[in-house]
Amino acid sequence: MTLRDRRILLIISGGIAAYKSLDLIRRLRERGARVIPVMTAGAQQFVTPLAVGALSSGHVFTDLFSREDEQDVGHIRLARDCDLVLVAPATADLMAKMANGLADDLASTVLLATDRPVLIAPAMNPKMWSHPATLRNAETLAGDGIRFVGPKAGEMAEGGEAGLGRMAEPLEIVAAVEALLDAGAGAQPLPLSGKRAIVTSGPTHEPIDPVRYIANRSSGKQGHAIAAALAKLGADVTLVSGPVEIADPPGVRVVHVERAEEMLDAVVAALPSDIAVMVAAVADWRVATSAGEKIKKKPGEAPPPLQLAENPDILKTIGHHAARPKLVVGFAAETQDLEANARGKLKRKGADFIVANDVSPATGIMGGDRNSVKIVGNDGIEAWPDLSKQEVAERLADLIAKRLEALR
Ligand code: C5P
Repeated sequence: MTLRDRRILLIISGGIAAYKSLDLIRRLRERGARVIPVMTAGAQQFVTPLAVGALSSGHVFTDLFSREDEQDVGHIRLARDCDLVLVAPATADLMAKMANGLADDLASTVLLATDRPVLIAPAMNPKMWSHPATLRNAETLAGDGIRFVGPKAGEMAEGGEAGLGRMAEPLEIVAAVEALLDAGAGAQPLPLSGKRAIVTSGPTHEPIDPVRYIANRSSGKQGHAIAAALAKLGADVTLVSGPVEIADPPGVRVVHVERAEEMLDAVVAALPSDIAVMVAAVADWRVATSAGEKIKKKPGEAPPPLQLAENPDILKTIGHHAARPKLVVGFAAETQDLEANARGKLKRKGADFIVANDVSPATGIMGGDRNSVKIVGNDGIEAWPDLSKQEVAERLADLIAKRLEALR
């Protein structure tokens, strides 16, 4: 059991997603963790302390000025006597309190008093998440070293509205808890510890109908290797992968998607982040209206015309986003005019540097195990020798760590 005897202080704040916290408690306990619940007044409007106490098999802390709790534990001890503080759901209100150092109830006081790693799973209405005040608070919290899991895109529990704001699923939260505790287990602080990274990898599949799609030859090998190399340097990595045949890399949170539009949603959902490395070979076009049923071939009829629509450019969106990561890296797979094209992309897409590679069939790079790249930045071009994709990934992760350090 990966979380055996780990003490997780779980703060539940007042949002409808609090119902998922009940399942979260079970998932954490299944893995051997001890869960010490703290509930805000708002949380108790959505789920009862009785239910939370029954699932966690222990006392539920609710009150800053409880005589019993203060004598027995005290909020300072509560804040420290754990391996990790997890806030799920984290409401906009609690995030605002955290970002401003308020401490007017037990949950916010514990969050101010703790010296343990803090992981939050935001959950709120999409308009509340995208409000400049919340985004500002999220950035402040990320700067303070608070880790995030989610929010995700999708339907809100209250129905009717969709967008970014849904709480991450309990198992994703558990994976983030495990990753954070594992990262903390190493004695030496790693060069990217405390940093968040988003990596895209693989191709996208753009459906023509339920059985056919447009794709490309990307294997995901380079992107997956980069995600693993960043994680090895201590980064908290979200890998957004298109459909690939290779395994998920270790120590990385993986979001599997098919289409470019889903990939963009997943990347935006993983913000805020310090680093973005967009390696995926995103299809430039999708089929404008993919058919709901399999398109039938009829004797004597001409082949159906395929009307294409342009896909969103994920790198460009992230390179110009209000919550743009400090370091944005793009790739340029070209078969001609490699350097000129890479320089154009650097500017157009708002990247800090572009990793350019020649994907002419003769090079065998697309789908192969080796890569020969040029790093194109504003300060010039550096050509790397022919290396394995893993070596390229490790060098790139080192370069990213150095650049990020220089930006401080
Ligand atoms: O314009 P081109 O596709 O050659 O640019 C390549 C770079 O842009 C890669 O980093 C790729 O991941 C990214 N890209 C993207 N979204 C697209 C197209 C490309 O993120 N729709």
